[in-house]
Amino acid sequence: MLKTQIFLTLVLWAGSAMCNRYLYYSDANGWFKVHKIPLTWQGAFLRCLYEDAILASPFDTELQKAMLAAKQEAGIDSPIFIGTKVMFNSADYLSIEGVPIEDMPVTVPNTNGRKPEDCMSLVREGEVAFTSCTQWLPYICYKENSTQLKYNSDCGTFDQEYHYNSETDSCYKLHKQARDWRQAYGICLAEGGHLVIIDDDKEADVVVKILQGKPRDLNWELSHAGFFDWNKDLLTFRTIHGEKMESVYHKWHLNQPDNKGINIFGGILENGELDEEWSTREAYFVCEKNPKVEVFELPEDQYENEVSTKK
Ligand SMILES: *[C@@H]1O[C@H](CO)[C@@H](O)[C@H](O)[C@H]1NC(C)=O
Repeated sequence: MLKTQIFLTLVLWAGSAMCNRYLYYSDANGWFKVHKIPLTWQGAFLRCLYEDAILASPFDTELQKAMLAAKQEAGIDSPIFIGTKVMFNSADYLSIEGVPIEDMPVTVPNTNGRKPEDCMSLVREGEVAFTSCTQWLPYICYKENSTQLKYNSDCGTFDQEYHYNSETDSCYKLHKQARDWRQAYGICLAEGGHLVIIDDDKEADVVVKILQGKPRDLNWELSHAGFFDWNKDLLTFRTIHGEKMESVYHKWHLNQPDNKGINIFGGILENGELDEEWSTREAYFVCEKNPKVEVFELPEDQYENEVSTKK
């Protein structure tokens, strides 16, 4: 294909598929992703963290203006959580980056003698509110640009732990912090990928090889994989993308699956055989990512550059 053709395809594709992408705001010197679906403060904090970003705080005027613009563009009328809350002691309201609320270009609200709530939200320019951390509000994740940031152009992310595999034309990341299956599912999603779906024998070999790099400190060898029993009846194992197991790799370990309604989550053993897992057991896992999905908006020339250097 011609370079321009590839580029055009990518632009068209990116325009339609990536509303979900981090968008660049030069005034903010970084990227925003507006999350319209509300979460509690802790939920929002973690989601941003898993996206390798930070729950945004309006700690300078440019950043605040950009946040409000992004909020408006997303059609959000309600306040949004900001990454500023009580840190350990009453009256110490600081952003995640350590900026005190008193140093931000906002008016600290008067509570008329009442104890303020522990978290904060941004209402409009210069106006923040004390807000209960257990409320559910939209929020913005922020990733600051810096000269240290290195783009992983093989995999469409800044995350250097994603590695491209040419046999499967997919990117993979081994997570070496044990999580339960649901958390693993969410973390992969936040990274712009999904919990690994093993399509065939070839991909099983690739994943088994990657899993050889996992720490050896757990008493079980099962790692999470992207399938589960959708109806807890031992009959409804499908991938997390709804595919029938018969249409993907499905070499089960002897007599598995066997634990009806209890072990509903999918996993892969070190020899590549499949087994099931219960909801609270923490294990290592591999996330898979489509290398063509760009998690961050880049200047157009950069995309072109990446496409032309990929092969
Ligand atoms: C991020 O900063 C670097 C270095 O200052 C710059 O070259 C790059 O263009 C910036 N990224 C975007 C998307 O503007």
